[in-house]
Amino acid sequence: MSLQGKHILLGISGSIAAYKSATLTRLLIKKGAEVQIVITQAGKEFITPVTLSALSGRPVISQFFASDDGTWHSHVDLGLWADAMIVAPATASTIGKMANGIADNMLVTTYLSMKAAVFVAPAMDLDMYKHISTQRNIERLKSDGVRIIDPTEGELASHLEGKGRMEEPENIVAILEQFFASGNDLEKKKIMITAGPTYERIDPVRFIGNFSSGKMGFALAEESASRGAEVTLITGPTALSTSHPNIVRVDVESAIEMHAAALKIFPLMDVAILSAAVADYRPEQVADEKIKRSGKENLTLSLVSNPDIAASLGEIKKPEQLTIGFALETSNEEINAIKKIENKHFDYIVLNSLNDQGAGFAHDTNKVTILSRDGKKRSFPLKSKREVAKDIIDTALKPSTIDNEWLYL
Ligand code: C5P
Repeated sequence: MSLQGKHILLGISGSIAAYKSATLTRLLIKKGAEVQIVITQAGKEFITPVTLSALSGRPVISQFFASDDGTWHSHVDLGLWADAMIVAPATASTIGKMANGIADNMLVTTYLSMKAAVFVAPAMDLDMYKHISTQRNIERLKSDGVRIIDPTEGELASHLEGKGRMEEPENIVAILEQFFASGNDLEKKKIMITAGPTYERIDPVRFIGNFSSGKMGFALAEESASRGAEVTLITGPTALSTSHPNIVRVDVESAIEMHAAALKIFPLMDVAILSAAVADYRPEQVADEKIKRSGKENLTLSLVSNPDIAASLGEIKKPEQLTIGFALETSNEEINAIKKIENKHFDYIVLNSLNDQGAGFAHDTNKVTILSRDGKKRSFPLKSKREVAKDIIDTALKPSTIDNEWLYL
């Protein structure tokens, strides 16, 4: 594999492991990449820009302005130039700043302008790595879509043994090569995703809704789009935003609106992922005026059932189209999920349980089991929703990559 012509932005922060960045630069250049280095002030205490610019063949950037002639270094241009950014070594401080958007140096500012995939290779002492604050920041970066290259175990600069050694440059290069080999593996795939809750109006100021945040559906949209898919995201009301150019967003409010949008869009799609928490019922009548409390001891709402979007798509689905549903069950989970595969003609169903800590609505994490139409299952540990999105996509759309990881039901 090669990195021929790839633009790699290498961020270096202040850790003893910065000496490995020289080898990393050399290996990237040998593989045909162009490497632009951005280093923090502390990074320069560990390795000199002279070494790095000699190896990369480009001036090393560390300040917003060049001190001699006042030229401005454009982090925006760097964000557009790069095909990937790798921060190696990433200290606890740099990870914390990236996770919280503290753009007080050129490295973090460039990260905030980055359009390409970002990799982070942490390097620090074992206790710093284990610290709840570092772990929280790493989790946040993961859910922002950053790929963390886990540190390895071994002797650390403090002479203590433990986890915190930056991954070896050879392995980082292999991870980048793998990324570019599969980076656009969903190119040209048309994927429709439903997300979020639906709101069913009672009167002009009230509705029946649910606790869905839309996070799982948005994570699926970002993951698919970042792998080259053309995504149409039909979402109910949510506070979330998307910026990826491959995502077309369709905002809807009610189940009826979501149903209409999905039926119109689905025939043009290769895949539909139905992660929306659609209200099963809506008020039979929507009052024109705000319903007044006065004089009423009780209020009874009459509800009628909403269309089942998944089942409707199941009926018009062509053999070459794939549908993936979700099930949130509180009892007899697998049996109920398998019934749903049948009733709604899903190819796969993603089962998440409200009984699991950190899984389900509003959390940034989820714990899922994926069941297939042909009677197989894969169970996963608690992960960030972005990582869960990757597992779902790989399972359903890249089955050959996970062939021997199934359990037969
Ligand atoms: O039957 P249940 O609501 O548990 O099924 C969940 C699955 O069906 C999810 O994939 C959900 O997005 C989808 N669904 C739908 N339209 C409905 C109800 C559920 O698409 N009205």
